[in-house]
Amino acid sequence: MKHILLLTVSLLCLYLPARANKTYILVQTDHTQLVLTTDDAGNLRTRYYGSRIDAPWTFLNDDKLFTGPNGSGPMTIPTTGGVFIGTPALHVRYADGSHNTELYYTGHTSEYRAGVFTTKVMLRDPVTALAVVLIYEAYEKEDVIVAHTEIINGGKKPVELLDYASSALHFNADKYLLTHTWGGWATEMQVERELLGHDTKVIESRRGVQATQGNNPSFMLSLNTAEFSETAGEVIAGALAWSGNFRLSFEHDNAGKLNVIAGINPHAATYSLAPGKTFITPDMVWTYSNNGAGQASRNLHRWARNWGVYGGGQVHPTLLNSWEGAYFSFTTETLLRMIDDAAGMGLEMFVLDDGWFAKDYPRNGDDAGLGDWEVNTAKLPEGIDYVASYAHDKGLKFGIWIEPEMVNPASNLAHRHPEWVVKSPGRDIYQERNQWVLDLSNPAVQDFVYGIFDGVMQLSKNIDYVKWDCNRVIESFGSTYLGKEQDRFYVEYCQGLYNVMRRIREKYPRVLIQCCSSGGGRVDYGALRYFDEIWTSDNTDGDCRAYIQYATNLIYPPFIMGAHVSAVPNHQSGNVTPLKFRFDMACAGRLGLELQPKHFSEHERALAERCIASYYQYRDLVFTGDLYRLSSPYDSDYYALMYVSQDKSRAVVYTYCMRYQHRAGSQHSFRLDGLDPKRNYTVKELNVNRSCWWGDGDVFSGEFLQSGAFNPDLPQKYSSAVFYLEAQ
Ligand code: GLA
Repeated sequence: MKHILLLTVSLLCLYLPARANKTYILVQTDHTQLVLTTDDAGNLRTRYYGSRIDAPWTFLNDDKLFTGPNGSGPMTIPTTGGVFIGTPALHVRYADGSHNTELYYTGHTSEYRAGVFTTKVMLRDPVTALAVVLIYEAYEKEDVIVAHTEIINGGKKPVELLDYASSALHFNADKYLLTHTWGGWATEMQVERELLGHDTKVIESRRGVQATQGNNPSFMLSLNTAEFSETAGEVIAGALAWSGNFRLSFEHDNAGKLNVIAGINPHAATYSLAPGKTFITPDMVWTYSNNGAGQASRNLHRWARNWGVYGGGQVHPTLLNSWEGAYFSFTTETLLRMIDDAAGMGLEMFVLDDGWFAKDYPRNGDDAGLGDWEVNTAKLPEGIDYVASYAHDKGLKFGIWIEPEMVNPASNLAHRHPEWVVKSPGRDIYQERNQWVLDLSNPAVQDFVYGIFDGVMQLSKNIDYVKWDCNRVIESFGSTYLGKEQDRFYVEYCQGLYNVMRRIREKYPRVLIQCCSSGGGRVDYGALRYFDEIWTSDNTDGDCRAYIQYATNLIYPPFIMGAHVSAVPNHQSGNVTPLKFRFDMACAGRLGLELQPKHFSEHERALAERCIASYYQYRDLVFTGDLYRLSSPYDSDYYALMYVSQDKSRAVVYTYCMRYQHRAGSQHSFRLDGLDPKRNYTVKELNVNRSCWWGDGDVFSGEFLQSGAFNPDLPQKYSSAVFYLEAQ
């Protein structure tokens, strides 16, 4: 039925009564709509992105916008050339040296399959024969539109792509409040908000790999307001699905309009396109909410769960990771005892982190061994299978760490294949963490990296999980393989990584793979097509994690966040937080422990077991529930959030005091959200040291709980409480 409807709509577009030579194109989801129109000349214009409206074709009658010299017109794909003089999404240099591209609409198609409307809009430059196809996938139920562009060299000579963005959108509002994240190692995902001035704001990465250790390729844009609101107003959220260099530009022009352009960063990456060849850009993920930022996040999270993240919707095991508990110093015995403790505490997996491999250059520190992926039998004489099988016998899954894109100079690999190392000819290679990067633009290196994963999987049939790490950036790039075509390096490195991951997923569809990059250095929807989860940050300090986790969840779903409880003083920050606070924070993601359990006191161990057991009661809500942010650590002395089941029958509420409050102010009121106001819920506090809400154990209506009456007593810095709600 939808097929027929859509076909009819497409045909209708061609026979419009008012302007027979113009057309409009609708890209729509259940609640949102993107409206494109052509003008008399055949330019394609973005007219509207917002809530669904009746009669969107009426835009065709408004052609005033397009008269006169047009530096800021809402071109759907702004190009260098024609009347457009703003920041281009597409900038091409032709063989004759010219820079002008003018694209005109030539047709479009629409198709519906299993919840996704795909619209393809064809454009062509009649002078150069460059063709462009804009592809929009509209995810009906999730209210998400995923856009990318195909650039086709229809001419007879090669062309150079100087800018080749994935997608552009155009807005017309009084104010634009941009929310985005910046960060570094152990301080990933820090929120920054700014009202856009009349200039161009650029968010980008030039790091090559670890591309998101600084800025993340994502943002939220609140329209017509200087205030960030969870529940009110128009918000557009966007995220580029690309793990390499990216660029997001926000050009606020002198007419008050905003052009947002998102794509690969063309820095040092002019892309030469041979005749007849097509360049396919990465996906740009868009969503729109007219109910504030909370809805925008929930749209993205649903899309991530249903479509965007590998294995989305599946519950992941809790785990004990060996890193901070053992670092490089362990024996088989150390690992077996950790496995015993993990099993005894009720955890579900043991992950052996760094330090298990390399013989000639044993990996006993970070200065040797990367590249030599054989078991260090001096350290683990019985091998990996022995440890993995022991874990399985104890009822635990088993995971293992690798860092396959890297090589230490002190390794057999570095001596055998110096030509595989990313290096500029005649120059020294900088070392970072004592290591170099392997050149994934080279297909032989792709084979090798795939072989590392494949080989490690052969060490034991009991490997259920792989932590894939990537611990440095690329400076002073150079590829022996690419020869004179160095401009291709950054793009082809990332494509090479995806090639490897595609092959891995074909052979190992069910193994859980964590994307780690010195913590959250590779957090993007491109990587998440292949990885099940991320290592959110090496910083496991409960305090710092509040900021990191809050910001991560603006765009990315809670279920991808590896969140571990570690020892105090925290190994990164030196901070000391109560064990309960650390658990209550980690339980908002995929719970894990990263410490030596034998260092727990009896009391701590008992609390840990209680927290782990209670997590299982609501873990499915972390993985499949909807997130409602109640209070931001950036704006308030309290951080609070909740996950609500899709049928609103269950919820879990997390509350944390981030800063000391004087006694009279310790009972902070939170308005719960997302509940059914008409249903009654039992509210039960979990992980209790001392009950901190007067209503603990009682039954309340959803309406009451959402009225601001929920006011747990959180008297001290790092007081925290978790509540489980069940409808009667
Ligand atoms: C990176 C990761 C850590 C750990 C170490 C091992 O820093 O982020 O979690 O795996 O590498 O060397």
